[in-house]
Parts: sequence; structure tokens; C-alpha cells
Amino acid sequence: MALLQIQSVEKRFGGLRAVDGVSMDVQQGELLGLIGPNGSGKTTLLNVLSGHMAADAGEVLLDGRSVLGLNPTQLTRLGVLRMFQMTRVFNRVSAFDNLVVCGLAMGLDEAKAGARAVELLEELQLTHVMHLDGGQLSGGQKKLLEFGACFMVPPRIALLDEPFAAVHPVMKETMAAFIKRRNASGQTFILVSHDMPVVVELCARSVCMNAGKVLADGPTQEVLNGVAVIEAYLGEQAHEGHEHG
Ligand SMILES: Nc1ncnc2c1ncn2[C@@H]1O[C@H](COP(=O)(O)OP(=O)(O)OP(=O)(O)O)[C@@H](O)[C@H]1O
Ligand SMILES: [Mg+2]
Repeated sequence: MALLQIQSVEKRFGGLRAVDGVSMDVQQGELLGLIGPNGSGKTTLLNVLSGHMAADAGEVLLDGRSVLGLNPTQLTRLGVLRMFQMTRVFNRVSAFDNLVVCGLAMGLDEAKAGARAVELLEELQLTHVMHLDGGQLSGGQKKLLEFGACFMVPPRIALLDEPFAAVHPVMKETMAAFIKRRNASGQTFILVSHDMPVVVELCARSVCMNAGKVLADGPTQEVLNGVAVIEAYLGEQAHEGHEHG
């Protein structure tokens, strides 16, 4: 059985079908790419999966159990963890304590939380700034710290929404390597990204959405080479004016 089963999920905003009957399975240990032009419904789908938005129809099963309608706190407890496009760290607390606080909130004891924090800071190449306040870190370092916070207790599935957007290339490498390593040791992810080279490198399989629907689902390179997918991206260019960041 798939770890996560998404079945005919719908989310409307007034007359707009932002997510329009989306179905896909995510297997345990998979690193699934979720791509598609701006406004295709990727973030909205993640919002539904993480409980930040209520779906209008459909079903979501985690380990075969319905989780649709649970709130973000309940879903986090079950191991569905969402990382946002906007970075959230505690500005007036050290990088180290940022991680410890998250660890404690996730149920670790202080010794364990401290040890995990040290390991993660090392892995994310933040050891040299561990005693600086969160607010003193660069944008990219904050993003890395947020990554660390999410993995103090590894989730069942991590939902990443454009983690590389506006991040310095060096930190992007660190982040991509982190995702790759975690996935190699069994961590399941859905990765939303417009960075196609990274998606190709990291994700064996990708789903492409367009106008709220699944346009293609399969091996990443095949999905990217599909005519419908290429046309969807060309259509986006024809409509220009869409910022991205
Ligand atoms: N809270 C909201 N209220 C109304 N419309 C919304 C809301 N959130 C998203 N939308 C609309 O739903 C559609 C899907 O948006 P969504 O943000 O899910 O797309 P996306 O694939 O994440 O795009 P991007 O790649 O630009 O991040 C868009 O037309 C968007 O304008
Ligand atoms: Mg989005």
C-alpha cells in the first residue's frame, strides 16, 4: 500500500478550480517531484495535504487511514510535515536553540534534542553560526535552519514548497544534498520546484499539474518530454507577466 494516497481531491476558490480532481500515490521512501506552471495548483494541493486548507471533495489516506479534515497540528503529529515558501525561524533565539526548541516540541528530551541539533547543524554546514541569533542569519541560512527544525524528528512525509527559491547557489547545493541523502536513507518527500535541473537530479518520478489537474505522472524525464507538459509551459510563457521567487 502506498504511504500517501491522494484520490480525486478538489479545492475551489469561488468559481476557480485550483485543484480539480487530483489523484496520485506516494510510495514509502519516494522523492516525488511536483511541477507545473505558475498557478497550476501545487501549493494549494500541499495546503490541503498539510491541513492548512479544507478540500471540497476527495480523499487523502496516510497508511490507508483517512486524514482529510485533520488540522495541521494533528497532521504534524502523524508525521505529515510541511515546509513553507516563507521561512519561519525564531529571530531572537540562537540557531542551536531554534533546533532544540523544535526538538522539545516534538517530544525529544533535552539531551537528545541537543545532540540532534549538533548533528543537523553540522550536516547543514551551520556549525559556525550555531550561536548567532536566528535573526542574524542570511536568508539561505535561515532556510537551512528551518530544514533542520523539520528533521529534528524525521517526518513520515515531508512536503517541500520551492525550498530553493531565492537561495544562494552554494546553499542550494547543501539543501539538495541534504534532501538526496535523507531520501537515500528512506525519507519520503514531495518536492515542489520550478528548478528543473534539480528536479531531474533528485526525483526519479514527477507529477506535472496544469490548471488544477494532473497532466502527467511518471519518470521525470519522460514527464518533461511529454507534449502536453511542454505545451503547458509554453502556454505559461505566452501569458508572461508572472513573477517568480
Ligand atoms: N487563497 C486563495 N484564494 C483565491 N485563489 C487562490 C488562493 N490560493 C491560490 N489561489 C489560486 O489558485 C490557483 C492555484 O494557485 P497555487 O498557488 O496553488 O499555484 P502554484 O502551482 O503553487 O503556483 P506557483 O508555481 O506560482 O507557486 C491560482 O489561480 C491562484 O491564483
Ligand atoms: Mg506555489
